Amino acid sequence: MPPYSTNLGAPSSPQRVWDKEVISGDGLRGGKAKHPFRSRVGIWVPPTAKYYKRLPGMAAMPYTHPIGRRWVESGHLRRASPAETQARAYAVAATLQLEYLDLRHFRANDLRVLLDEESALWRERLHWDYRSSANLLLQYVDSHLLVGYVALDQKKICGYTFCVQEQAKAIIGGVFATRAAHASAPATAVEAKLLDHLLETLLHTPGLERIESQLLLYPHGTHRAAFEKAGFRLFPRLFMELDIDADTAPEPARNHDWDHEISLLGGALQIRRWQETDFEAATRTIAAAYADHIDSAINDQYCSIAGANRFLHNIVRFPGCGQFEIDASCVVLDTQSGSLQAVLLASRISPDIGHITQICVSPNLRRQHIGQTLLEVAANRLRRMGCRSVTLTVTEANRAAIDLYTKLGYRTRHSFDAMLWTA
Ligand SMILES: CC(C)(COP(=O)(O)OP(=O)(O)OC[C@H]1O[C@@H](n2cnc3c(N)ncnc32)[C@H](O)[C@@H]1OP(=O)(O)O)[C@@H](O)C(=O)NCCC(=O)NCCS
Repeated sequence: MPPYSTNLGAPSSPQRVWDKEVISGDGLRGGKAKHPFRSRVGIWVPPTAKYYKRLPGMAAMPYTHPIGRRWVESGHLRRASPAETQARAYAVAATLQLEYLDLRHFRANDLRVLLDEESALWRERLHWDYRSSANLLLQYVDSHLLVGYVALDQKKICGYTFCVQEQAKAIIGGVFATRAAHASAPATAVEAKLLDHLLETLLHTPGLERIESQLLLYPHGTHRAAFEKAGFRLFPRLFMELDIDADTAPEPARNHDWDHEISLLGGALQIRRWQETDFEAATRTIAAAYADHIDSAINDQYCSIAGANRFLHNIVRFPGCGQFEIDASCVVLDTQSGSLQAVLLASRISPDIGHITQICVSPNLRRQHIGQTLLEVAANRLRRMGCRSVTLTVTEANRAAIDLYTKLGYRTRHSFDAMLWTA
């Protein structure tokens, strides 16, 4: 399952443009914000006791490092829990004097620098080349089709969030605030505030029945409070990686590839490369494989044939989950009936990193090493195409898939959250 599938490729109708509004931070009264965590030389320092007094309810809150999420307590360092980090972000957000404007007042050029910085963070944290997604997003900003907010710090753009709304469903595709040293507010605090504004707007939108979001870039718990406060359920997800570097990775158990015909279950099934004509059959297989599945709760595209079809089109045609790699994507066919029984779709998230965007096997054929063989085939293809590792995302509650990936050597590199709100 991809990190998110925002349907950016296929928005259905133009959105209502709200009146221009300025929402100022609910900050301390009186003029320009003096940020208490910022020293003159740009080093983050603990706030003073005087500062605590100015934050109702926060008097007992110890200092947490705004960037490193470490907690200073009696001279000892320990990692702050997500709840502690969130509480701190909200305390900071409450002091900010930023402006929050409707995203549709802005043009792509206004946001380009911020998205370049966000792309750098995707590269640093996940080795993910986010630039084509960012370019697509900027096109949509120019079309004024996205619902969202931009944060301004002394008239300069310092953050944004966006969502795609389609009839009764909205998908929050991202939130990001600058990490630049000159920023007068910690990024997590600005992001929390942006999410507050967006969620408040969405929750007051008539007819909206469902909001989904997967914030792959942020570690599990980072924006939990904003979503939980708005009534969302959270589903932890994992970002896993397998080393397939020709020099360092161990040889795969079986050197599968469809250069040599691969048959399974004594010739009853056969694996072949993905073809454009597989769309319809793959759609049916995906919908059947995800019936009553945890991922259908998180992403309702899995719940219907029409939804699975949109999901497939997004994966194959648009770069939200990397550039589709037809040469590493494959299907399993029943040799007698020709019916499609399993599918694996692969993409590239950077020149040397492959990504599994989808793998599923028909329910009646599970536990016969079909999924395992598909993953081995894809890893071999990606290795031959110059990739040094393969990544994927999986819901923490999906034990079957996690056991499969772990057996093949995938390791968790990062955990993040999927969020869901239903009316
Ligand atoms: C996950 C999925 C693709 C696995 O396919 P599969 O063909 O049944 O898996 P395999 O037979 O190749 O399993 C290989 C190994 O994975 C592990 N595994 C697979 N399914 C398991 C299960 N239900 N429980 C425990 N371990 C499991 C086992 O270690 C197994 O080896 P073993 O049978 O020798 O013990 C399949 O269950 C599926 O389609 N699920 C629904 C869609 C899905 O969740 N996709 C993944 C989204 S991230």
